[in-house]
Amino acid sequence: MASSLNGKQILLVISGSIAAVKAPDILRLLRKEKAEVQCLVTQGGAHFITPMALASLSGHSVAQDIWNEEEEASIRHIRLARQADLILVAPASANFIAKMATGLADDLASTVLLAADSPVLIAPAMNHRMWHHAATQRNLAQLRADGIQCINPDEGMMACGESGVGRLAEPQRIVATVQSLLSEREGGGSPLKGRHFIVTAGPTHEPIDPVRYLGNRSSGKQGFAIAEALHSYGAQVTLIAGPVDAVTPVGVERIDVKTALEMKAAVENALPADGAILTAAVADWRVEPSTSKYKKEGGKPSLTLIENPDILAELSQRKTNRPRLVIGFAAESDNLLENAVTKFKKKGCDWIIANSIVATKEAPAAMGGDDNRVHLITQKGIESWDRMSKKAVACKLANYITHYFKV
Ligand code: CTP
Repeated sequence: MASSLNGKQILLVISGSIAAVKAPDILRLLRKEKAEVQCLVTQGGAHFITPMALASLSGHSVAQDIWNEEEEASIRHIRLARQADLILVAPASANFIAKMATGLADDLASTVLLAADSPVLIAPAMNHRMWHHAATQRNLAQLRADGIQCINPDEGMMACGESGVGRLAEPQRIVATVQSLLSEREGGGSPLKGRHFIVTAGPTHEPIDPVRYLGNRSSGKQGFAIAEALHSYGAQVTLIAGPVDAVTPVGVERIDVKTALEMKAAVENALPADGAILTAAVADWRVEPSTSKYKKEGGKPSLTLIENPDILAELSQRKTNRPRLVIGFAAESDNLLENAVTKFKKKGCDWIIANSIVATKEAPAAMGGDDNRVHLITQKGIESWDRMSKKAVACKLANYITHYFKV
């Protein structure tokens, strides 16, 4: 793990959003990192998650009411605000964000936030229209100007059945940001802070003529998630993306390319780097493209395949400017581990992550979907991870990378 939260006091404020049902996951991860977590639920939040569940998971009674009989009401908010090393609002609803931005203090949670001098981190969650609304964006800008950190929500399907930006960020990413914020405050800083990482993602398209190309079904999701996770840990990230329809993670520099040759040039231009994670599904072959469209009347075109350079192998075997940590991905349809180990040895990278591109009983097909089941192959052996979301794989990998750079 990147940095332990041993003994740190986290005040977890849960406001009224359906994403409150994910609060126990955040709580569990914080506890796993040995943090002491005090939960505070707003009236809206309590509609989605029972204080009883949070109390059992945190080991502390849950703060809810400003008018608590056991404690003098006038000091409760001050005590909660003062004892926290960090206040995490997750999920932060549009309403709660609005209250924070205007300084309203009409319940315990908003009063605590107003009395706080500890760092505050919010993880918003709401319908995508609410997220994009000018009022919400204005409130967020105000909060940022007030020094409050925000973990932007993810894009995807929402509880309301609509799709867009507004899903609560993955619990792993939230906890990684908590770790990085606290360690920064202690002057330790994340081991990835200031380090430069190159991430490649998506497919490459190799033109055949002005309208056709050779390509594959890679969505780029895993690479984009890794770029985002590394950025959460304080890294400077250059994301070199093939043609994909994916939102660029905030704070990440994205360079769009189409072909393998363009991707190779972009990777070389981005050097030097401390690490490189090459997730792209690079087309192994290209053709000499025709400048005019192939027509049926012209008969079947005869295409001569030319092998593309292997960006991963070349980067791993560089004599100069080789990144300290080079990680490849192995996409296999058969004999997953055996083929991946062969690839690992042949390419000369430091780690390789094997995933299956065909669905099996244990794992979904890696390409296109939101989940992945990966196997991390290093000199030390093979470590198989459970099936999880690609975002969770990214956070776990970023964690391992952080650990690697710590020693
Ligand atoms: N890769 C690369 N350049 C290529 C081909 C692959 O950099 N021309 C990288 C990928 O980004 C990935 C790793 O090599 O990190 C393995 O890619 P994969 O497609 O699984 O394997 P290939 O090397 O293409 O071998 P094969 O298609 O024969 O399995």
